[in-house]
Amino acid sequence: MNVAIFASHNGSDLQAVIDACRKGKLKARVCAVFSNNSDSRALLRAKEANIDSYHVSAKVYGNEYVMNNEILKLLDAHQTDIIFLAGYLKRFGHDIVKKYHNRVFNIHPSLLPKYGGQGMYGITVHQAVVKAQEKISGITIHRVNDEYDRGEIVAQTTVPVLPYDTAEILAARVLEREHEFIVEVIGKIVDGDIPIG
Ligand code: GRF
Repeated sequence: MNVAIFASHNGSDLQAVIDACRKGKLKARVCAVFSNNSDSRALLRAKEANIDSYHVSAKVYGNEYVMNNEILKLLDAHQTDIIFLAGYLKRFGHDIVKKYHNRVFNIHPSLLPKYGGQGMYGITVHQAVVKAQEKISGITIHRVNDEYDRGEIVAQTTVPVLPYDTAEILAARVLEREHEFIVEVIGKIVDGDIPIG
């Protein structure tokens, strides 16, 4: 299964998938990496792993319509089966979601529908969880549609919030679990347990 990954910054989830594929833990390969951020560590990680990578921004292509068309051509050229947004902070193109219906997934660091939606990303999510004195947080993987964090949930896992956690400590605990969980869930997609047809 060919997995295209979109990431805006660090790309540690991307790295977890690259490593799992390399070690044979996943019957999949990362076929291409896309980032809206030319300086992202995600693009560097892709280069280090010899994976084709692309800086895609409306500025580079002139406008979003042209950009999305180019992305579609690249996805096609890489025979993409599924698309994973792993820390991709741009709204994802409607035409791409339409063409890859049911095959675009996003990973979010909370138990959606709680702590999701526009502006809820990065440390903001964990700050809100700590402030609300939740005892449990977690990770959600959902299909992408045109609304932020609102597509069908395909998998969730919980992560404890411990007394005296700061948002930063909780963020690190959740991210560590993400690195396993994204691999587990892609494995379920590969095995057909999460349908993409
Ligand atoms: C993760 O917490 C993911 O859930 C969210 O963005 C973060 C990406 O982290 N969508 P990284 O860039 O993979 O390190």
